[in-house]
Amino acid sequence: MDFVNVHNITDKVQEVMVRVPDPRLRQISHSLIDHLHAFIRDVQPNQAEFEQACEFLVALGQSTGPAKNEVILLSDILGASSLINLQNDQPDGTRNHHTDAALLGPFWRAQSPAMPLGANIARGQEAQDSSQSLQVGGTVRNAAGQALADAVVDVWQASPVGLYENQDPQQPNMNLRGQFRTDAAGTFHFLSVRPAGYPVPVDGPCGTLLKAQNRHPYRPAHLHFMVSKPGYKVLVTQVFADDDERLATDVTFSVADSLVGRFARQPHGAPSAFRLDFDLVLQVGDTVFPAPPIP
Ligand SMILES: [Fe+2]
Repeated sequence: MDFVNVHNITDKVQEVMVRVPDPRLRQISHSLIDHLHAFIRDVQPNQAEFEQACEFLVALGQSTGPAKNEVILLSDILGASSLINLQNDQPDGTRNHHTDAALLGPFWRAQSPAMPLGANIARGQEAQDSSQSLQVGGTVRNAAGQALADAVVDVWQASPVGLYENQDPQQPNMNLRGQFRTDAAGTFHFLSVRPAGYPVPVDGPCGTLLKAQNRHPYRPAHLHFMVSKPGYKVLVTQVFADDDERLATDVTFSVADSLVGRFARQPHGAPSAFRLDFDLVLQVGDTVFPAPPIP
């Protein structure tokens, strides 16, 4: 009998994985063992480190609940979520590229209020500070450059203190959220306030890890967009403020060049202190909405 030793154990595990019936699960299992064993041979963890790793994984589950998913957060802060998003959002081969996708994040709510073009999504105290007022506008197009009328532009964002309405008892329900429908020329516009960057939750194991890695927990300021029209893929993306000092160090590695928007300061007397113009380009495909992370 050929018993296991440090040299042959990887091959012995792979002999088992070869017998996994489902081809995709077989491929994933084989690759997982390949990389996991290579990682262990590289790192050579001692018993105490192995126990610490197991405790970390258990803590991820134990600190996950209806309000927070620490497993997704770990994937985010290791760049895995963003890598998967980038891989699944490759150009479709046409000359005109669609708008790059970015992570949905944990704060999208379905059924946010439908509002007329030009309306203000800032309905709380933040609307009083005109120095942060922001006008947002753009055109929704397809990859051939044609303007798309009747596309739904669903927007959500954090307040100027970096909190979404569901995290902040000071804000009215559904504040800083709204759905707009593009006009016959494919354009949309609305009023808001500048969002602030904010930290991801640091009260769980991911916060401990960020601290040990000497990393800040912040995301740069951004607006979230979900743009849809039947016959086109649902575009989920984020547009980042070009003057945010943390653009290059987003804790979730989500900032693509193409998603940095110019938050242009407006002359005195203009309807808003800042203006953001950003066009959104959809690609043809099935119109499938993600599951809302919160009700
Ligand atoms: Fe966000």
